[in-house]
Amino acid sequence: MTTAKIDLKQYIRNIPDFPKPGILFYDISTLMRNADAWQIAMGRLAAAVAPWAPDMLAAIESRGFLTAAPLASRLGCGLVMLRKPGKLPGETVSHSYDLEYGSDSLHIQADAIQPGQRVVVMDDLLATGGTLVASVSLLRKVGADVVGAATMIELTGLGGRDRLDVPVRTLVSYDE
Ligand code: PRP
Ligand code: MG
Repeated sequence: MTTAKIDLKQYIRNIPDFPKPGILFYDISTLMRNADAWQIAMGRLAAAVAPWAPDMLAAIESRGFLTAAPLASRLGCGLVMLRKPGKLPGETVSHSYDLEYGSDSLHIQADAIQPGQRVVVMDDLLATGGTLVASVSLLRKVGADVVGAATMIELTGLGGRDRLDVPVRTLVSYDE
């Protein structure tokens, strides 16, 4: 079988009413469990991200770690974590953003990026785009040249892509 034809949606499990009623959860656990499917997913992400020639990938806690770390290793570029509050040692820079209820913030180590470095921000999934928009703002605060954003999954009906002012690449999309 040629890998070019494999539909990664076959490996992503859809779980209704998680984490709360009315939400359809796209579970990448089942994709990662399958060694061949995970290799294909990483290969496709690498092909999407490599043309941006990043110096560094920025991984959004927590599921963004799963896509960014193997990809940085494949592409031979650096890796930096964007973390939830209270997790990173040393001097940090933060950016707060609004959620449906309340707010949250992401943090980065102040010396993580050299000014002007080309950075691609990575997550598992693009929904409303709030997390990626906040990540781009945070990366710019520390001097990054954010050249793109990439995820495995995109929920196209939520319009997240339109909120981002950087190029976006995703592997599979659901019209939700
Ligand atoms: C999920 C997902 C993305 C974000 C997408 O993370 O992993 O990071 O939501 O939503 P948005 O585009 O509407 O911002 P979640 O906050 O559930 O946390 P986790 O990655 O730690 O599981
Ligand atoms: Mg997440």
